[in-house]
Amino acid sequence: MSDRVIVALDFPRAQPALALADRLGPACAFYKVGLELYTAEGAAVVRELRRRGKHVFLDLKLHDIPNTVAGATARAGELGVRFLTVHAAGGTAMLEAAVAAAPGGLTVLAVTVLTSLDASGLGVVFGRSVEDAGVEAGRLARLARGAGVGGVVCAASEAGRLRAAMGPGAAIVTPGIRAPGEPRHDQRRVRTAAEAFRAGATHIVVGRPVTAAPDPALAFARIAAAAPGTT
Ligand code: C5P
Repeated sequence: MSDRVIVALDFPRAQPALALADRLGPACAFYKVGLELYTAEGAAVVRELRRRGKHVFLDLKLHDIPNTVAGATARAGELGVRFLTVHAAGGTAMLEAAVAAAPGGLTVLAVTVLTSLDASGLGVVFGRSVEDAGVEAGRLARLARGAGVGGVVCAASEAGRLRAAMGPGAAIVTPGIRAPGEPRHDQRRVRTAAEAFRAGATHIVVGRPVTAAPDPALAFARIAAAAPGTT
């Protein structure tokens, strides 16, 4: 069993999300709860996953004043969450507040540049010309690292650059995972699980290739076989 493959529970309600977790059983130890499921079901769904002994990545991409983000991080810590995302663009004080509020078992992960933004979209946000969104992602990762953040979420293609920015101990969590020939859905740049780990990911996030598979347990097992340290 590996805890390096995180299944994204992108469902509108708790029932199908928990049914999937029950179907995958002990093989899958780590689940991501994002904005949709959390908005629908709140902390209850996180507690249900914890009750089943699962690790939880709470992907709320927090971006607010330091006091508010610190409070939300502390509450996530009380729920026993293992990964929590915050936006690096919230700035040093906000990032430091999140790190200070996180209990020992909770790693704060920074989101640098949303993959939905390209250089020109980012230039509009920043009010200056941006040549390369990847350079901005590296800059924001260094900002996050300086504030004590423990890892980043990024595309596998950015893993090398962000590893250099974050240093050797950081978590690098990469979505956009597809097997060759598999539907890409709305993902533009995809990598296989093996490619993502080779590029330096410590964890991968996989949604529809497992949740929409005819046999989710088989799909998960195939992906998890590529993870280092699989037993
Ligand atoms: O279904 P799929 O495997 O594409 O799901 C990937 C998951 O990773 C989704 O929960 C998505 O929101 C998340 N994600 C992503 N790309 C990012 C950040 C997060 O796909 N840059």
